[in-house]
Amino acid sequence: MGRVFESVGVVGLGTMGAGIAEVIARSGITVVGVEIDDEGVSRARSHIEYSTSRALAKGKLEGADRDALLERIRYTTSLADLADVDLVIEAVPESPELKAEIVAELDTITRPDVILASNTSSLSVTELGVHTTRPDKVIGMHFFNPAPVLTLMEVVRTVVTDPQVVPDVEAFAERIGKTPVVTGDRAGFIANALLFGYLNHAVRMYEQRYATREDLDAAMRYGCGYPMGPLALLDLIGLDTAYEILESMYRQSRDRLHAPAPLLKQMISAGLLGRKSARGFYTYEEPDSPTVV
Ligand code: 3HC
Repeated sequence: MGRVFESVGVVGLGTMGAGIAEVIARSGITVVGVEIDDEGVSRARSHIEYSTSRALAKGKLEGADRDALLERIRYTTSLADLADVDLVIEAVPESPELKAEIVAELDTITRPDVILASNTSSLSVTELGVHTTRPDKVIGMHFFNPAPVLTLMEVVRTVVTDPQVVPDVEAFAERIGKTPVVTGDRAGFIANALLFGYLNHAVRMYEQRYATREDLDAAMRYGCGYPMGPLALLDLIGLDTAYEILESMYRQSRDRLHAPAPLLKQMISAGLLGRKSARGFYTYEEPDSPTVV
């Protein structure tokens, strides 16, 4: 009989972490969400309230279930509050130093048998594990944005992962309504390794004035049935996040496909980060809004 996780810590409640906390709480599991300060907590709370109100409006949640979901999430600014949880998922920004510091601290706070999972998109899970005394219990749980909507979870095992941890994590994924796929610890895992070359190529095409942003996006939506075009998707992912993922994959593979298009860096320097800053390839009504003006 595998392990059942009844309380889960989520560290970092940005776009991904807040979505992960929402998904887990929706499945009846208690969540302890950790943010860096009170402002981060209040941003996360609003994010989850907004997202669940959309789910309510679309008939994906009942009012009482939404109330129960919101009550199942406890917010804190202290990692020490994770002392009693059964599983921790870290979803802090893609900085190797920051992630290493967080897992090392989690290693001292949580029970020794607790699985420490990372939602990293492109950093090495194996290297993260080295910063703990339990590398066999450090694993990748990679969610997709928007986490409450997309059902894939990449379960990233390393060469030292305890063989029982993988089925336990797969069972957890299914319990929270996700479809797990198991992958080795390679840059970009499966989905990002396939997706980001395409996204980067789209930026290059835009840079070279192949077509307008609208036509580039329309081609992939109406010609290939993608739910959104590559430039709109980059705005959703966040140009800074996309750049970090490309950089990391390029560093590891040296495949030119992943050498970030220069325009990406320029847009980031100019503060055009996508939906999160209300401007990216498109301009949005307000930060984080899906509405293009
Ligand atoms: N909980 C549950 N369901 C929700 C929800 C919530 N909080 N909010 C919305 N939904 C449901 C809606 O009810 C709707 O379902 P329906 O189609 O059955 O009615 C569905 O989710 C879509 O929601 P919306 O109507 O709000 O939005 P759109 O129809 O405009 O779709 C989109 C938006 C989901 C973003 C869609 O365009 C899409 O899937 N785009 C592609 C996104 C993608 O590729 N993401 C991966 C990025 S890569 C990544 O994340 C990896 C990382 O490492 C960077």
